[in-house]
Amino acid sequence: MRDKIDTRILPSEITSREHYTDRRRFMQMAAGVSAAGLLPESLWAADKLPATANQAYLLDEEKTPYKDVTGYNNFYEFGTSKDDPARHAHTLKTRPWTVTVEGEVHKPKTFAIEELLKLAAMEERVYRLRCVEAWSMVIPWLGYPLSELIKQVEPTGNAKFVEFITLQDPMQMPGQRSAVLEWPYNEGLRMDEAMHPLTLLTFGLYGEMLPNQNGAPIRIVIPWKYGFKSAKSIVKIRFTEHQPVSAWMKAGPSEYGFYSNVNPEVDHRRWSQAKERRIGDFFKRPTLPFNGYADQVAGLYSGMDLQKYF
Ligand code: MTE
Repeated sequence: MRDKIDTRILPSEITSREHYTDRRRFMQMAAGVSAAGLLPESLWAADKLPATANQAYLLDEEKTPYKDVTGYNNFYEFGTSKDDPARHAHTLKTRPWTVTVEGEVHKPKTFAIEELLKLAAMEERVYRLRCVEAWSMVIPWLGYPLSELIKQVEPTGNAKFVEFITLQDPMQMPGQRSAVLEWPYNEGLRMDEAMHPLTLLTFGLYGEMLPNQNGAPIRIVIPWKYGFKSAKSIVKIRFTEHQPVSAWMKAGPSEYGFYSNVNPEVDHRRWSQAKERRIGDFFKRPTLPFNGYADQVAGLYSGMDLQKYF
């Protein structure tokens, strides 16, 4: 299985297990008829997601190995242990999949996932992901700016916030049978945060489609905020006049704020945020303001008291 993959090989170069099985079946059928080298390329490539590396976001830091990115997850719909999502998320059905865009927009629309995959040029961007639990990773994501989708639906003058609502289906998501959070998981951004070029509508990682445990088939990634803002398996995007209340704000209003910008100076009620452990490292490293993206995003919050708006 995935966690036995040799990480010296680029994970994106490895054929998925399902595909490998298909290919073997095909090769068995074709034995004696065709040489392996003549087999169609597409048989190797179904889970791949072609993308162009965005030079502005190469990030000169060691990437977190694929086995950790896909084996150490938070996705409470599949359990609360870090290895639960990788073990249980196979029950999530990601096709057919639609995303309904509604609320304060002139052109509300339900998009099929296939349409969204083609809506804008797919980029690879290496971002730091900093979890509120004080660990971090470096992940090569595949996607395009959320602003590309927002432009298509034409927000009205009343649209001040965007809410992301994720799948609710206890049949597919066994974690939803217990009330660890108020389901469905939801998150939100202010309009200017949603329009920011760093905010990535994300479909893949490490050269392939998102594994279920990472939020297939579509999630958001907001690299200057704690990881819980990056909602997985989105089915609805709603534009609103009023600030949405997220699942984590409902669960612990004094611990989880709406903004949740990575900030070494504002501690979580139960632990410090001054340092973090990069997954795979032994020693902790200092947490960077806005997770290292301050040059690009600090201006969004000028004049705001970040102790108050945590
Ligand atoms: N999205 C949903 N739907 N459910 C979740 O439990 N967990 C969040 C976020 N998105 C979560 C979610 C948290 S706490 C983190 S740190 C990131 O997903 C983890 O993303 P990753 O597993 O791809 O690293």
